[in-house]
Amino acid sequence: MQNKADFLDIIYTTRAIRKFTQQRVPNESVRKILEAATQAPSGGNRQPWRFLVIRDQDQKEKIGAAYLKGALEYQQKTLQQFKEEQEHNSNSYLSLHFSESPVVIVVCAEYRPLVGDKLGILSQPSSIYPAVQNLLLAANYMGLGGVLTTNHRYHEAEIKTSLGIPESWVILTMIPLGYPAEKHGKKSRQPVEDVSFSDFWDQEAEF
Ligand SMILES: Cc1cc2nc3c(=O)[nH]c(=O)nc-3n(C[C@H](O)[C@H](O)[C@H](O)COP(=O)(O)O)c2cc1C
Repeated sequence: MQNKADFLDIIYTTRAIRKFTQQRVPNESVRKILEAATQAPSGGNRQPWRFLVIRDQDQKEKIGAAYLKGALEYQQKTLQQFKEEQEHNSNSYLSLHFSESPVVIVVCAEYRPLVGDKLGILSQPSSIYPAVQNLLLAANYMGLGGVLTTNHRYHEAEIKTSLGIPESWVILTMIPLGYPAEKHGKKSRQPVEDVSFSDFWDQEAEF
């Protein structure tokens, strides 16, 4: 990377990529991306993450089927609706084609509620998702793409059994990864003034 402007460019252009070419993702690229992920901060620097890298087609079929069931339930749609809208709706497309992703990275954390821990439900996601964002930014930088998904949650037990994930571990996301068959680029986001305040809730932002 040449300079800081390039770094911001990666942040500004990293999109949710849900369609991939069938080009193989080299192991070295997966390793680099995971190294970027593990540079992220975590509570107490405990680094609670585990990355399960899935390339095996049988395993991808199993988790893809569970993902599809979850997506249908979450979106309250029928399989037929997904099929009809997959051309213009990348969510539906991914749900139907999850198992065709060249690589799926399943990111897990150990579920260890601490007695008297006020962080409660915050503690797990907040120590994992910074690493996931690093992973996605590094993927874009390397010409790859992926998307943070959570639809696995509906049938997590089934996925954990297929992948041999121990009872006490939780899947925080399953990230399909590959060379994009759709483009990174400009995103639709609310202007900063609409989502920020200065000094007091609802007080106009002064920057
Ligand atoms: C917490 C979280 C959960 C998400 N779950 C899913 C998911 O299950 N399936 C999916 O296709 N995308 C999922 N996404 C991706 C979002 O839809 C995507 O990041 C958002 O629409 C912005 O996309 P863009 O950066 O391309 O504009 C999730 C994103 C986040 C942050």
